[in-house]
Amino acid sequence: MRIILRLIASLIVVSTVVVSLFAAVQARHEERRLVEELDRRAIVLAESLQESVEPVLASGDQERLDQLVERFGYRPRLSGIAVYGPSGEAIALTSSLPESFRILPVLEAAHGELAQAGLISAERTWWHVQRLPLRQGEAILGTLVLFHDASYIREHWASVWRENFLRLLLLVLPISLSTLLIVQWTLLRPLTRLVDWLRGVKRGEALLPRTVRRGDVFGPLTREVTDIAKSLIAARAAAQEEAKLRSKAEARWTADRLSTHAHTTLQQRKLVIVANREPYMHVRDGKQIRCVVPASGLVTALEPVLRACGGTWIAHGAGDADRETVDQLDRIVVPPDEPAYTLRRVWLSKEEEAGYYYGFSNEGLWPLCHIAHTRPVFRSDDWAQYQRVNAKFADAVLQEVKGVEQPFVLVQDYHFALLPHLIKQARPDAKVALFWHIPWTNPEAFGICPWAQELLQGMLGSDVLGFHIQFHCNNFLETAERLLEARIDWEQFSIDRAGHTTWVKPFPISVATNGLAETAKQTRTVGRTKDALLSELGLSGVRWLTLGVDRIDYTKGILERFRAVERCLELHPELQRQFAFVELGAPSRTLLTPYHNLEAELSAEAERINRRFQARGWKPIVFLKKNHTHEDIEAFYRAADCCLVTSLHDGMNLVAKEFVAARHDERGVLILSRFAGASRELHDALLVNPYDVDQVAEAIHHAISMSPAEQQARMVRLRQMVQEHNVYRWAASLLNELARIRPEERPASSSSSPLLEAE
Ligand code: G6P
Repeated sequence: MRIILRLIASLIVVSTVVVSLFAAVQARHEERRLVEELDRRAIVLAESLQESVEPVLASGDQERLDQLVERFGYRPRLSGIAVYGPSGEAIALTSSLPESFRILPVLEAAHGELAQAGLISAERTWWHVQRLPLRQGEAILGTLVLFHDASYIREHWASVWRENFLRLLLLVLPISLSTLLIVQWTLLRPLTRLVDWLRGVKRGEALLPRTVRRGDVFGPLTREVTDIAKSLIAARAAAQEEAKLRSKAEARWTADRLSTHAHTTLQQRKLVIVANREPYMHVRDGKQIRCVVPASGLVTALEPVLRACGGTWIAHGAGDADRETVDQLDRIVVPPDEPAYTLRRVWLSKEEEAGYYYGFSNEGLWPLCHIAHTRPVFRSDDWAQYQRVNAKFADAVLQEVKGVEQPFVLVQDYHFALLPHLIKQARPDAKVALFWHIPWTNPEAFGICPWAQELLQGMLGSDVLGFHIQFHCNNFLETAERLLEARIDWEQFSIDRAGHTTWVKPFPISVATNGLAETAKQTRTVGRTKDALLSELGLSGVRWLTLGVDRIDYTKGILERFRAVERCLELHPELQRQFAFVELGAPSRTLLTPYHNLEAELSAEAERINRRFQARGWKPIVFLKKNHTHEDIEAFYRAADCCLVTSLHDGMNLVAKEFVAARHDERGVLILSRFAGASRELHDALLVNPYDVDQVAEAIHHAISMSPAEQQARMVRLRQMVQEHNVYRWAASLLNELARIRPEERPASSSSSPLLEAE
């Protein structure tokens, strides 16, 4: 408030000084103008009088002189005339003039020698005096003086000041008021809000991130402070978690612990991760460039690991503004608000992307590895592009690890089956792990791939080959045993081929669990409430909110889920209007026909079911098809009574773990497919066969009618599981496994990208 007062006071002072200066100049100017006007009038009158008075005075006719003085003495504004003799005594004086004017020297003594013309103040009023000598020939007979009332000049002068003062008031009052409001609205209020928010952060309250309003002068400051506060909140959560762990003498994995561990394990060696999908993608949005986080379980899991360990993430630069945001070496440091590691982008031509990504990876390997009854398509052109792109990424890896001894390279997923072998050929000292994020099917199913052996050989270039669950490891070992000449060690779970050993192990991937130890008591509700979300969706009277979060993919069992919702309403008609199912579906791989068709099929199915049951203000299925933000998804996770993860086949499925991690209130029920890797760990979910629509329908009914006590008991155990088996532990075990491998003594191949050269 003091600052506003100071601001207003200085405004008043400055305005007063400026207005006063103008008023003074104006008043002076006006006064001068009026005096000059009076001067002119007085001199004309005086000269005409002079002609009449001089002969009368010379004749000594006192009576005529008196008459003359009386007669002329009453004109507009003229107060009187006086004729003084040479000694200065009045010979004739208009009777209305004060007695003190009788003697000219007395008058002059009081007011200084009278000028030819000018103003004097006498008898409490202002007079204009005009003086002329009266002559007879050369001799001076006396002085003629005309007295005009000049008080109106002073009044006018005062009125000029009055007007200007009024003007000053009219200027200063609205300016002060608007200054007060502007300062209050644009400066003080946002500042107070920011300070309150920061105080909340300081007190340890989990608060909504500050949103920057348009035109907020503190926008840049707010953004910076928000970032600092976020780090503070994260650091505090980590410290609390560490402290809790210490007090329980347990050794749970946290970001900090992984960071220290990675530092010790890697020493000076570099960590490089290769994944097709980049963690941050720059896309055009009109004239602006937006940075988005793609919907991908792989990104969800690996991003916190790189944040903790540092290193380089090599990925396909798929965003349409990606090229504009990298440096000359195609690198950019990320995350944008808190740089922790390097993202190296690899550029692919349209043909390469079509053959390698859409074609071989997603039309071939994806349906091959998932038992979802979509036939894989294998084309030799796609295979050629797959080989070419793997070689291209191998080159990028070799550039990144140049000069670094025994670098750690973590290759991710089915896009890069050939990469481990390519890297190892050029750099036998590199420690290479391949983590396969999707299921591995049985040898018969895999054997249909025309290039099955080449894929296996490529994968067996790695030192460590990871799957989510032991079952997939077993499938792989069987496949290698059946399709390759290799020695399989079923005791050690390793494969020896051409003098190289690959250890095949399960590493169940997970999510980051920062702050997971907090309970409802410690965490204020973040995000929108269930009622707020339902009303945003236009649903009224709904008691239970059930949820699905997926990339729109035929392996996720979304269609079956919709049918289970329908069946649930058939079996339990009392639930109509009582519950709603919200599907947050992120469009994915839409250039491929099965994905494109699936979107349309899902919309049509949701519509059909809604038409069947919907009533005023309610429909059973809300299908929200877009890339949802993390904040939105988090709000739904926290508000849902039940989350359905009903994949037909899934490597792990991190939505299940994310839902659990979000439930600080220890409520909510997870319905989970038996065919998702996560079902091996999350025993307290309601496990279902997603193909059994009746079973899923009953699971929904069971979930929403489950007692709060049972919900809590299950959720507490689920959270404990996710907390203990988080992604930091996953990364640490992968690094440990790699660190354990002894370097091989195999000469490096002279070619850095053998496949490229072979073509
Ligand atoms: C699965 C795969 C990931 C992939 C993600 C998203 O989780 O295992 O490798 O990144 O789906 O798919 P997309 O094709 O959009 O990268």
